[in-house]
Amino acid sequence: MRWWSAGSAATVVMVGRKCCSDGAFMGLFLIPQHALAITRHYEFNIKMQNVTRLCHTKSIVTVNGQFPGPRVVAREGDRLQIKVTNHVSNNITIHWHGIRQLRTGWADGPAYVTQCPIQTGQSYLYNFTVVGQRGTLWWHAHISWLRATLYGPLIILPKKGVPYPFAKPYKEVPIILGEWFNADTEAIISQALQTGGGPNVSDAYTINGLPGPLYNCSAKDTFKLRVKPGKTYLLRMINAALNDELFFSIANHTLTVVDADAIYIKPFETDTILITPGQTSNILLKTKLNYPTATFLMTARPYVTGQGTFDNSTVAGILEYESPVLHSVFSTKKLPLYKPILPPLNDTSFATNFSKKLRSLASTQYPANVPHRVDKKFFFTVGLGTTSCDQNQTCQGPNGTKFAASVSNISYVQPTTALLQAHYTGQSGGVYDPDFPISPFDWFNYTGNPPNNTVVGNGTKLMVLKFNTSVELVMQDTSILGAESHPLHLHGFNFFVVGQGFGNYDPIKDPKSFNLVDPVERNTVGVPSGGWVAIRFLADNPGVWFMHCHLEVHTSWGLKMAWLVLDGKLPNQKLLPPPSDLPKC
Ligand code: C2O
Repeated sequence: MRWWSAGSAATVVMVGRKCCSDGAFMGLFLIPQHALAITRHYEFNIKMQNVTRLCHTKSIVTVNGQFPGPRVVAREGDRLQIKVTNHVSNNITIHWHGIRQLRTGWADGPAYVTQCPIQTGQSYLYNFTVVGQRGTLWWHAHISWLRATLYGPLIILPKKGVPYPFAKPYKEVPIILGEWFNADTEAIISQALQTGGGPNVSDAYTINGLPGPLYNCSAKDTFKLRVKPGKTYLLRMINAALNDELFFSIANHTLTVVDADAIYIKPFETDTILITPGQTSNILLKTKLNYPTATFLMTARPYVTGQGTFDNSTVAGILEYESPVLHSVFSTKKLPLYKPILPPLNDTSFATNFSKKLRSLASTQYPANVPHRVDKKFFFTVGLGTTSCDQNQTCQGPNGTKFAASVSNISYVQPTTALLQAHYTGQSGGVYDPDFPISPFDWFNYTGNPPNNTVVGNGTKLMVLKFNTSVELVMQDTSILGAESHPLHLHGFNFFVVGQGFGNYDPIKDPKSFNLVDPVERNTVGVPSGGWVAIRFLADNPGVWFMHCHLEVHTSWGLKMAWLVLDGKLPNQKLLPPPSDLPKC
């Protein structure tokens, strides 16, 4: 289990009030039981590293030379200070996916939204406090497609002395699903944006960076989870893949899902989970009571609803029981190997049933504070479209056009300076327009026969909200260029998923079946293919907050927008001033 070896840890895992001086492993200080929140310091040196998978060696952008990147660990209430220094030629930003960033939007990370990127040779200190959150989140680059290799777990432990609302697991293991491309992913997306066609798909999926034995030239790069019988393991699942929702299962074992996007849920059992890019989930794995004289594969492969080409391969890791007999006669090689059966690639009914099982814990200690009263209702369409090809050219998108994607037919145009800075300094003119529509301008049968005109509009439009507005947002998939499931991610907030369905949303009938009692609370939700999802959230966090499809190709095509939440009246309802080292564009 190479990914776990502490020997290779180049990151500072330094805890305490004194700060660190260099990138060396500093060790863990013992903290008194009743210690208050502390500040934890990390150093992220962005540098190139040669990595070989599937017999292809390439130079990838990494944090501290590690792939996947280092774990960041904090307790609820702690402050994190992560100094990111860019030693590569690409511009870099890092996003702390799922962290609410209360009043600290400057540390959120999306390029040209909350900050200008960190340029070569420059540093930026991401400085934020983890408030009211505990569970598994993750960090990733938030510029172009660099998150292909720049990602890692962000683990928030409960406050000292606060137990999980389930039996304490014997061990905790992050499982990050990713995508491996033999080619350079920056070249793939820049070429695709030029030609207008769909980008090349990945060559493999990975578990903790390893593709596993089902690919050519890959058996030695297999993630192995060695377990003891009769124990409970907490798997901290993260889908860091660029473009694919994934099914995941472990042969002959039942999984108990206990949390989604770092919020506890009512536990339920399942053989298979579905996890979209951006989502995280804690699941319990109970190992067999007796040594099973078998080994078991854990596998993941995509759930696909779109019409384009995709990587239909399967990543596998191995669940191996430690033999109770020392120098056992059994070599694991000789043991039978069981393989899980995953749902069909397009199994939308599995997706629907799975998402219906996700319910908030809604206990006294962990209540579901879903807004019952709604101040503002919004209806956005999400989906693909086209833009025209440059003159005298044929592009490789539909009918010689270029692929595009949009929210309410507005394909987001990335500005050349950061939205949050433009807002804070009162210089938004020419950067963004504060007039994102509350519903699309053109109404049509969103999930019926697509309209003849598939051309999207363009703009950098923000939806402006007063502080503490309670929001209901319905996101409606469109069938323009084919219905497709879109994992929508909202920065700065968790939201409650109060309803979902297929076809066109009916504003009279559908709200009657909304769940306002125990809806799941999360930061990324799959808009069902050819359907809609309704979410609610309280806009209690001033700042500019990005919302986008977490399929990176759709983000690149413009399926993104931003919310601007204004300051409240009280001093503690205002965005904090920008840090002095905030990068300049
Ligand atoms: Cu995980 Cu805006 O992203």
